[in-house]
Amino acid sequence: MDGNGRWAEGRGMRRIFGHREGVNSVRETTTECARMGVKSLTLYAFSVENWKRPRAEVRYLMRLLRRYLIDERPTLMENDVRLLGIGRLADIPEDALATLRETERLTSENRGMVLRLALSYGSRTELADASRRLAEDVLAGRLKSEEIDEETLRAYLYDPETPDPDLLIRTAGEMRLSNFLLWQISYSEFHVTDVCWPAFRREQLLEALRCYAARERRFGGLIQDDKPKGIEAERAS
Ligand code: FPP
Repeated sequence: MDGNGRWAEGRGMRRIFGHREGVNSVRETTTECARMGVKSLTLYAFSVENWKRPRAEVRYLMRLLRRYLIDERPTLMENDVRLLGIGRLADIPEDALATLRETERLTSENRGMVLRLALSYGSRTELADASRRLAEDVLAGRLKSEEIDEETLRAYLYDPETPDPDLLIRTAGEMRLSNFLLWQISYSEFHVTDVCWPAFRREQLLEALRCYAARERRFGGLIQDDKPKGIEAERAS
């Protein structure tokens, strides 16, 4: 969700107003995705690197997160959305973490869509944390090293249920991954828009989905066609 600061500065406002307006984009995107039948949405809300920002901005973001987690409960319930946090959640201030846990509990029975908020998240950190826990299990004899395959490693990620995203949307025109879901996005389709996150609403979401619908996904293989045309043509001749 990039471009909050630029959106605000472009309007002569302080950066935090971009974050505040960004919450409205979070609500609209979440609601639209749930209504359209998207099963999983993961939003990169705060990275492990974001702790390096000025203390006042970090404090504002944590307060905004807590407010969001309280205020959005009715919308999440109305739209049958289950909310989960992924990342180094222990880094988050106690009051925000307690509010996150409570929102997770309240929405735990919702089955329409899972909304994952990546908080104090970094993909390299996720892989390092997973490797450490995996090594501990090998050392303790709970796992044999020869048993380790892709699915074993996945089981040690923050949330093994996180599906591989079909589509990754990057706002504010940035052409980089910024340490986001590196394991899970191996075969995701990318959509980069110049629109800053606070201006990313229903119209921009639909545009991203239209672009995605036109993609041909082969996952490293070839398109499976019902009729092998070459052979058919040979037989017909
Ligand atoms: C990056 O934009 C955005 C963030 C670091 C914070 C994202 C937070 C929100 C959208 C609002 C809070 C979200 C929730 C779920 C409560 P930037 O500040 O780096 O923008 P810039 O690149 O233009 O400076």
